[in-house]
Amino acid sequence: MRAPELTPASRIYVAGHRGLAGSALCGRLRAAGYENLVLAGSSEVDLRDRAATTRFLTEAAPDVVVLAAARGGGSGANAAEPADVLSANLRIQVNVMDAARAAGVPRLLFLASSAMYPRESRQPVRETSLLAGPLEPTTEAYAIAKIAGMAQVRAVREQDGLPWITAIPTNLYGPGDNFHPTSSHVLAGLMRRIHDAAVAGAPSVVVWGTGTPRREFLHADDLADACLTLLAHYDEPGPVNVGTGRDISVADLAKMLAETIGYTGAIEFDPGRPDGTPRKVLDIRALTGLGWEPKIRLRAGIASTYQWYLDSLTLPRQREAVRGHEMVR
Ligand SMILES: NC(=O)c1ccc[n+]([C@@H]2O[C@H](COP(=O)([O-])OP(=O)(O)OC[C@H]3O[C@@H](n4cnc5c(N)ncnc54)[C@H](OP(=O)(O)O)[C@@H]3O)[C@@H](O)[C@H]2O)c1
Repeated sequence: MRAPELTPASRIYVAGHRGLAGSALCGRLRAAGYENLVLAGSSEVDLRDRAATTRFLTEAAPDVVVLAAARGGGSGANAAEPADVLSANLRIQVNVMDAARAAGVPRLLFLASSAMYPRESRQPVRETSLLAGPLEPTTEAYAIAKIAGMAQVRAVREQDGLPWITAIPTNLYGPGDNFHPTSSHVLAGLMRRIHDAAVAGAPSVVVWGTGTPRREFLHADDLADACLTLLAHYDEPGPVNVGTGRDISVADLAKMLAETIGYTGAIEFDPGRPDGTPRKVLDIRALTGLGWEPKIRLRAGIASTYQWYLDSLTLPRQREAVRGHEMVR
């Protein structure tokens, strides 16, 4: 089957529409004139529940599914609760994909993660590095689930001929991110720690590790644009990287965050904490070859994300709206 073209009438189910990626994608879809969105949060349909998921997808009968629902939470949560992470992600994926298959959903985009690449991958990481070596142990449960999801997409293509695809996003950030002290990702977690230090007037803030590892960060709105590009132009069994192709050291990131926040204290490093892999940046040539490129520079993205964070502290209802259906980007 050829990939169906998206039209304003297309019924698009964004699983995980309240999340960082899902809410950005809903905003982009609406801005592009795709208003026929099918949305249900985890309180309405728990995607770990197979019967509920099947019922929901059978009734909703979407033309397109974007699977952006997952149990994530950075390497801390991954390492602390690997059994929950593995089980939840496997169930969400298998339930959604089986139900979508049974409902004959012609197009599905699965959001995997760059955590699924081997720890020692050659940099920048190409899609061909998948399954070529051992994974980073702290995120292995999450990575294995994502690898299984990618394999399921490929298997459905092979068996049913459906044009389902997989994207591999790098680290994401943006308005709507999770700033929780223990379950956040690198950028949001660091932003919060530096913000808290600034508010407390602390003379210094400690950053885990040596500060030398280099990481890549993609704004959720750029990911959303990439999803639209992939849905419009991509129909291959192999997954596609979604990143900026640019990396920054954790030390420089902390400095950029401190400048944005206005924190003038010292940034100290704790080399007793693990650094993880020294460099991780994706090769994005496959996606740029389709005409997409990241538009939001890191400094500007950090500034708008910090503004959102400040607003969310003073305007709890706005935070609720941003996480929920009514969000306008
Ligand atoms: N954030 C990153 O840095 C990053 C990097 C690479 C890949 N990814 C992938 O990109 C996708 C989106 O990530 P994100 O950062 O946007 O995640 P997020 O902000 O944590 O949001 C995850 C979403 O999944 C939904 N969800 C979780 N468990 C569910 C369940 N049992 N039933 C129904 N819905 C459930 C949540 O729904 P409710 O809000 O309704 O509870 C939430 O909206 C995920 O597949 C993630 O693995 C993320």
